[in-house]
Amino acid sequence: MSEAKRLAAEKAIDYVEDGMIVGVGTGSTVAYFIDALGRIKERIKGAVSSSEQSTQRLLAHGIEVFDLNATGPLSLYVDGADECDPHKRLIKGGGAALTREKIIAEASERFVCVIDPAKRVDILGRFPLPVEVIPMARSLVAREIVGMTRAQPVWRQDAAGRGIVTDNGNLILDIHGLAITDPVAMESALNQIPGVVSVGLFARRPADVVIIGGEPPQLL
Ligand code: 5RP
Repeated sequence: MSEAKRLAAEKAIDYVEDGMIVGVGTGSTVAYFIDALGRIKERIKGAVSSSEQSTQRLLAHGIEVFDLNATGPLSLYVDGADECDPHKRLIKGGGAALTREKIIAEASERFVCVIDPAKRVDILGRFPLPVEVIPMARSLVAREIVGMTRAQPVWRQDAAGRGIVTDNGNLILDIHGLAITDPVAMESALNQIPGVVSVGLFARRPADVVIIGGEPPQLL
């Protein structure tokens, strides 16, 4: 699938205009986009990054990274996804960067999502839905999720059994066993639980363009 990811990411360069500050997501597909951006770095002003991981890669390419508070609205945001439905609604957060990704998507006029074909689904939810939570609220939020959805929230941990800590110092619950027939309603309902920082459903603000990697890449 990495070839499909690369093809999608490199196609997204078509949306980059001279002098832009580009919003940049996180993940293995976006890594190809950052590498492609590095090859045209003289044409852009810089980037706003959604994670420490992407920031390091941007800086390694000599691309200046700006604080979103200093840039105002962005024209373009490019990011990957874990699932994408026919309405360009997404599940994101497999890389635990969902909160900053959601902030930059909201701040951007155009959200171009880059995926490999395996990410396409008819109904979101086969990929466990990530939810970023404040540490002290982990158990509370998990109980509320079970009551609300009957699905199974699982505390994301590393191989050594330590809870994954996000760039914002929070934890991730992955909700297994959802079939998300109304993504906007589910996004809103989960966002209401005290202690939830953000939900990896991008339904209220879906992607504007989805590029599916292949020869040639397809647009949704
Ligand atoms: C990170 C994300 C990523 O965009 C998502 O996990 C897809 O990653 P990849 O491009 O590695 O398949 O949401 O939080």
